[in-house]
Amino acid sequence: MEVLRVTGGQRLTGEVSVPGAKNSVLKLMAATLLAPGVSTITNVPGILDVEIMAELLRRLGCGVEHRSDEATLRIDVPERPDHRADYDLVRRMRASICVLGPLVARVGAADVALPGGDNIGSRGLDMHVDGLRRMGAEVTSEHGYLLASARNRLTSAETWLDFPSVGATETILMAAVLADGTSVIDNAAREPEIVDICRMLQGMGAQIDGVGTSTLRIEGVDELHPVEHATVPDRIVAGTWAVAAAITGGDVTVHGAQADHLSIALEKLATAGASVESLPDGFRVRMDRRPAAVDIVTLPYPGFPTDLQPQFIALNSVAEGAALVTENLFEARFRFVQELARLGADVRTDGHHALVRGRSMLSGAPVEATDIRAGAGLVLAGLIAEGTTTVYGVGHIDRGYAGLVPALQSLGADIERGTATDV
Ligand code: EPU
Repeated sequence: MEVLRVTGGQRLTGEVSVPGAKNSVLKLMAATLLAPGVSTITNVPGILDVEIMAELLRRLGCGVEHRSDEATLRIDVPERPDHRADYDLVRRMRASICVLGPLVARVGAADVALPGGDNIGSRGLDMHVDGLRRMGAEVTSEHGYLLASARNRLTSAETWLDFPSVGATETILMAAVLADGTSVIDNAAREPEIVDICRMLQGMGAQIDGVGTSTLRIEGVDELHPVEHATVPDRIVAGTWAVAAAITGGDVTVHGAQADHLSIALEKLATAGASVESLPDGFRVRMDRRPAAVDIVTLPYPGFPTDLQPQFIALNSVAEGAALVTENLFEARFRFVQELARLGADVRTDGHHALVRGRSMLSGAPVEATDIRAGAGLVLAGLIAEGTTTVYGVGHIDRGYAGLVPALQSLGADIERGTATDV
């Protein structure tokens, strides 16, 4: 069993580069299904989830060539892709659900195993299903599979989402681009990753208005064509580096990032006492004191991202003062707090809220990452804890952070990868 061993106390200094976003590239890969022929995606992160999605596309009949040295994917989509996404892949990655919309739109059928993925809450699919039904698809659930079919071409529909769900917006959007007529998605998600997929779909010939707003208007077209598209930078990886600089009292320049995608998180770091400088291709974060506690409320974009919540709890756990952290998206994301407590953090949770009282010191201990961002939060806490922190559940971290260990080492961190027995 692989673990990360982090020995705290080093100030991180230097420069890092951010790859393309996990939460965009997986959807871009699914979107290629909408057009036969060879599409190319660049700025592809070298993470496990990309391999899982590549395997899923291969099973649907696509040729997938991943050149990790060039961060490029070439996906050759057949005239008639298969339509079944099996449990053995879907259970490893919830994002597999994003093939649902493109398959129903393109081949009139999709059998997708109900997803597993991160252990961070119930994560329903009702809005995905409702959106597809409004467009004329029949959707049922049998033996652990979501079965969607459409005898004829999907028809346009107006959908008002109860909540600006990222996944539901993507499913409905990817179905609507090939539907007959003009569809509207109101209260749509407007994360930078949604803008990215809209841009790619536009490059394929889709007609989409209102990109980046909460109302998307999509005029369906008869067919789309392949495209070459560069993945938007990963704002969550960039934000994780920003917290790494702040928590260690370091000085880190992050390249290949878009500071405007992280406005609130960077402002919070400034409130915590960091100096934050925007650069043309990223930003620089410096910290020369113990951070001050900062309250956080997670919300859909442009609010504070839930995917940076554990990292900020880690920061608050060593800050001066107390902070109230409110989690509005994933109820189980506070499970990570129990692990942080093993390092001596003082965090109390009550429903959606966590009260974090800063301690002057954490102390290293074995801990378990329960999802990607919990893993990032634990590594960050380990960087400041006295002694050695052994992080189990490394597979979760590998799903979202490419080359984390060498990048941290290059900034001066004392971290290594090993097996549970040799560390
Ligand atoms: N929801 C429903 N019904 C639906 C859809 C969503 O109840 O039909 C609920 C979910 O249960 C959840 C909330 O709405 O409580 C938010 O879900 P959303 O659909 O917005 O999120 P997602 O598409 O499942 C993506 C990212 C997450 C990220 C969220 C929010 C991917 C693969 N995942 O999830 O990323 O936290 O958006 O920004 O894009 C991560 O990277 O660590 C991660 C979990």
